[in-house]
Amino acid sequence: MFLIFGSILLALYFEPILSILAVQKNEIRTYESLDGLWTFVREPTNYGDLGITNEWYSNDLSKFDNATVMPVPSAYNDLGTSSELRDHIGWVWYEKKEIIPFRDQQFRHFLRFASVNYFAVVYVNSQKVTTHVGGHLPFEVDVSQYLKFGIENKFTVAVNNTLSWATIPQGDFNYQKASSRNISGRMLSRLPSGAFKDVGNFDFFNYAGILRSVQLVKLPSSYIENIIIVADHTGSFYYETAISDLNNGLVVESKIFDDNNLVVFKSNSTKGEGQLENAKLWWPRGMGKPNLYILEITLLSSDGQVVDVYRETFGFRTVSLTESQMLINQKPFYCLGFGMHEDFELSGRGFNQVVMTKDLNLLEWMGGNCYRTTHYPYAEERMAENDRRGIAVIVETPAVGLKGFPKANNNLHIKMLTDMIDRDKNHPSVIAWSLANEPVTKKKESRNYFRSLVETAHGIDRTRPVTTVYGPTNFDDDQTADLMDFICVNRYYGWYIDMGQMEWINQSVYWDLSLWKETFKKPLMVTEYGADSILGLNQEPSVDFSEQYQSELIHQTHLAFDALRKDHTITGEMIWNFADFMTGMTTTRAVGNHKGVFTRTRQAKMAAYTLRNRYLSLFNQTDLPLWDTKKQLY
Ligand SMILES: *[C@@H]1O[C@H](CO)[C@@H](O)[C@H](O)[C@H]1NC(C)=O
Ligand SMILES: *[C@@H]1O[C@H](CO)[C@@H](O)[C@H](O)[C@H]1NC(C)=O
Ligand SMILES: *[C@@H]1O[C@H](CO)[C@@H](O)[C@H](O)[C@H]1NC(C)=O
Ligand SMILES: *[C@@H]1O[C@H](CO)[C@@H](O)[C@H](O)[C@H]1NC(C)=O
Ligand SMILES: *[C@@H]1O[C@H](CO)[C@@H](O)[C@H](O)[C@H]1NC(C)=O
Ligand SMILES: *[C@@H]1O[C@H](CO)[C@@H](O)[C@H](O)[C@H]1NC(C)=O
Repeated sequence: MFLIFGSILLALYFEPILSILAVQKNEIRTYESLDGLWTFVREPTNYGDLGITNEWYSNDLSKFDNATVMPVPSAYNDLGTSSELRDHIGWVWYEKKEIIPFRDQQFRHFLRFASVNYFAVVYVNSQKVTTHVGGHLPFEVDVSQYLKFGIENKFTVAVNNTLSWATIPQGDFNYQKASSRNISGRMLSRLPSGAFKDVGNFDFFNYAGILRSVQLVKLPSSYIENIIIVADHTGSFYYETAISDLNNGLVVESKIFDDNNLVVFKSNSTKGEGQLENAKLWWPRGMGKPNLYILEITLLSSDGQVVDVYRETFGFRTVSLTESQMLINQKPFYCLGFGMHEDFELSGRGFNQVVMTKDLNLLEWMGGNCYRTTHYPYAEERMAENDRRGIAVIVETPAVGLKGFPKANNNLHIKMLTDMIDRDKNHPSVIAWSLANEPVTKKKESRNYFRSLVETAHGIDRTRPVTTVYGPTNFDDDQTADLMDFICVNRYYGWYIDMGQMEWINQSVYWDLSLWKETFKKPLMVTEYGADSILGLNQEPSVDFSEQYQSELIHQTHLAFDALRKDHTITGEMIWNFADFMTGMTTTRAVGNHKGVFTRTRQAKMAAYTLRNRYLSLFNQTDLPLWDTKKQLY
């Protein structure tokens, strides 16, 4: 039997939490962009806390002899000409000066950063206003009391990209101690004293800096703080609004507009629920149109003056699971997807609207309908585009390759998961939360760690399933997979396993995935498979790193996917990777990872056409059979 989300129940599906709404410009709200060239000073690598100790925040950094400029948003790593800047670990300092107009004195001013990797200390006019841990997610601080109007204000940000348990939920930090030997009275050491590597336990470059936009957001003194809107395929919806200061007889007006700009719901309450007749549903590409609605919240004074307005886009859609399938609006959904990266030449992981637009256009050209935000939450602009284009996404925390499970890291992981869900909660395109990529969850101690994450996600959001992406563990030694609502697995037969054995791939993949399925009896998605290839490197018969090899490996893996689909074992597949991307230096990477079906400059390799043919042939799957009807609610 179907478990329908009832309208009364909907109210139970979201725990209100402190929020950070996306920035909006409208008849009340405005902001000043602080993007552009900032003064930039680097500290020596891994050298204590030089700038903070010497109170650099009270200096004018642009007067330093070694000051330069750095564009925001962008990673700084690839913009210099030295390996010291590229590989820098430790503190860098950013500074910008800005005159704040007199006319804006009536506003509350919030300084907002969309992403700083990984640890930031923020100063306004030499006074510390906040610190923030965790990259890839926004944070803001009310700086009204620190600002001066009509004259220059100085914004200083100290950024530390040191990878540690304190800055990112991670597995391994590769510190290396210089080991010394006393040889005939001489102390000899293999490494310089204090030497260390800090490349992270992940297969992508550790890009750092102010990676996304910075804004000075101007809000009225009473303002709309948070909006939660949950809407399902039956037309039921529930919403809740948090107002910063709901006194002085302020009134809230809530309206829902359809895509013709017609009001379909109206209320004077900060929260409520309703039922929309004939709601047009949000569908992923290939299943229907990604219909969107707008919830408009207006804050009015007692005499009817508009105090604040916020318009939140949302969609009516339900994600649910059977034992074998993921359903969207109760219809089987099969993911034709990608692992990706926010990565491009020069700007690194910095937000780049040009690259974002090209990537999503290429994803559509490929016949894709989904992707996973490997391996961190992606830019807010991109989340809005996913809604508009009908691209389903699994949003992932930045926890890659977890190996140890200390409490401090668990707490940081929980905080980042919470912030991530809070940021992306109203996006219909978000179909699931991924807690981690390829954790080494063979030890019992990993179980409590992951249980706390599942409980956190379920505690805030019961409308979306929770998953973890498994790599190093197997069906018979993983200690956490049964805690997940559905299971994602990365497998590289023909590459990391059995290189060169094309004819073994089908059976190996089939066998491996079938065992996961039989063990856990939950929906299964293959979230990574693939091979490296260098554009223009051609070999017939195929050899590893040739375009032919990548294309054939993908094709062979698809034979297994076809068999697994027929056996009701998998509910989706994602290639690794959409495009080539930069990594740290290792013997297995030649100027980065080349598993892209596109090059780093987004040109198609042979494999792109192989994948495109498959995705387009499977794209219109509106009549996929429903294999079983026993539904799971999380
Ligand atoms: C840049 O200048 C400051 C101030 O003189 C100095 O402390 C710091 O070490 C310099 N940075 C580098 C990378 O040498
Ligand atoms: C920042 O970087 C320095 C190395 O330059 C390190 O000693 C310090 O612990 C780091 N602080 C944080 C909070 O990561
Ligand atoms: C190294 O060994 C010599 C004896 O061979 C000893 O005199 C000296 O103190 C040692 N140095 C250190 C730093 O341990
Ligand atoms: C909401 O309040 C306004 C005045 O603030 C009033 O004119 C309107 O009728 C109310 N609407 C509802 C649905 O109660
Ligand atoms: C792939 O393997 C499965 C499982 O062994 C088998 O049923 C299927 O026929 C194979 N496909 C091809 C094309 O050989
Ligand atoms: C999918 O179906 C639509 C409508 O029937 C059609 O216009 C489109 O060409 C189909 N796309 C593919 C890739 O088959």
